[in-house]
Amino acid sequence: MTIPRFIYPTIAVLAAGVFAACGGAKPMTESPPPPPPPAESAPPAESAPPAESAPPAESAAPAASEAAPSEGPPKPWDDMSTDEKKAYMKHEVVPHMKPLFVAQDAKRYSDFGCETCHGKGAKKGKFKMPNPKLPKLNPMDKFAKAKKKHPEMLEFMAKKVKPEMAKLLGMPEFDPHTMKGFGCFDCHTMPPGIAAKMKKAMAKKAKAEKEEKGGDKDKDDKGKKK
Ligand code: HEC
Ligand code: HEC
Repeated sequence: MTIPRFIYPTIAVLAAGVFAACGGAKPMTESPPPPPPPAESAPPAESAPPAESAPPAESAAPAASEAAPSEGPPKPWDDMSTDEKKAYMKHEVVPHMKPLFVAQDAKRYSDFGCETCHGKGAKKGKFKMPNPKLPKLNPMDKFAKAKKKHPEMLEFMAKKVKPEMAKLLGMPEFDPHTMKGFGCFDCHTMPPGIAAKMKKAMAKKAKAEKEEKGGDKDKDDKGKKK
C-alpha cells in the first residue's frame, strides 16, 4: 500500500471537524452486528433478531443496506496476491459498494465498476490506489472546497463509503486515536504540494513531541558521566 500514513495524525485532527460537521452521527453501517450464521446450534434467543432481517433503516434508501454485511477478506488483504485481490474486488467489493453508490445517485453510478474507483487505467490492469484521478481532497482546510461544493458527497463518503470499504478490506477504519486504519486518503490524493506540506508539518510536530517526551532523558543520559 502506498498510503502516506505519516499524514494521518494531522488528518485525524481535521477529520474530527469534518465528521462533526457531518451532523448527528446515526451510525448507519456500523450498528448492526454481523448477524450470526443461521447455524443449527444457535439457540433461538428471544432477544436475537432473525439473521436476515436488516434493521429497518430510517433512510429511504433500502439499497444501501441491501447487501449482507461484509465478512472481510478470507485472509489479510496485504497477504493476498493480485489475482486474489482482483477476484475479491469483483465478487465482494463491487457487489457491496455498487448499491451504496446507486442509492446515492442512481444515474451517475448506473455503470459503477472497477473504473469508478480505479479510473480508466483499470481497463489496462492498473489498480494502484490512491487514485490521483479521483477528486483531490485538501485536509489542511478541512475539505472546505468539497464541503461547500458537495456536502452530500462528503457525508456519503464519510458515513457509507469509507466504513464499508474498510470492512470489505478487513481493515480498521481510520481512528484518530491510533492514527491508523483505512481512510479517505487510501482512495483520494491531495492537491499538488499539500502532501509535502503535511509531511513537513507532521515531521515538525513529531520532533516537538519527541523532544518533549524523550528529549530530556536522552540529554540527561548523555550528560551524565557514570
Ligand atoms: C469502491 C471502490 C473500489 C472499486 C469499485 C474497486 N476497487 Fe479495487 N481497490 C480499491 C481500494 C481502496 C484498493 C486499495 C486497498 C489497499 O490496499 O489499501 C483497491 C485495490 C485493488 C487491487 C490491488 C492493487 C494493488 O496495488 O495492490 C486490485 C488488483 C483491484 N483493486 C482490482 C479491482 C477490480 C478488478 C475491480 C472491479 C472488479 C475493483 N478493484 C473495484 C477500491 C475499489
Ligand atoms: C473506497 C474509495 C473511497 C474512499 C475511502 C473515499 N472516497 Fe471519496 N470518492 C470516491 C470515488 C470513487 C469518488 C468519485 C465518484 C464519482 O466519480 O462520481 C469520490 C468522490 C468524492 C467526493 C466528490 C467530489 C466531487 O468533486 O465530486 C468527495 C467530496 C469525496 N469523495 C470525499 C471523501 C472523503 C472526505 C472521504 C473520507 C471520509 C472519502 N471521500 C473516502 C472513493 C472514495
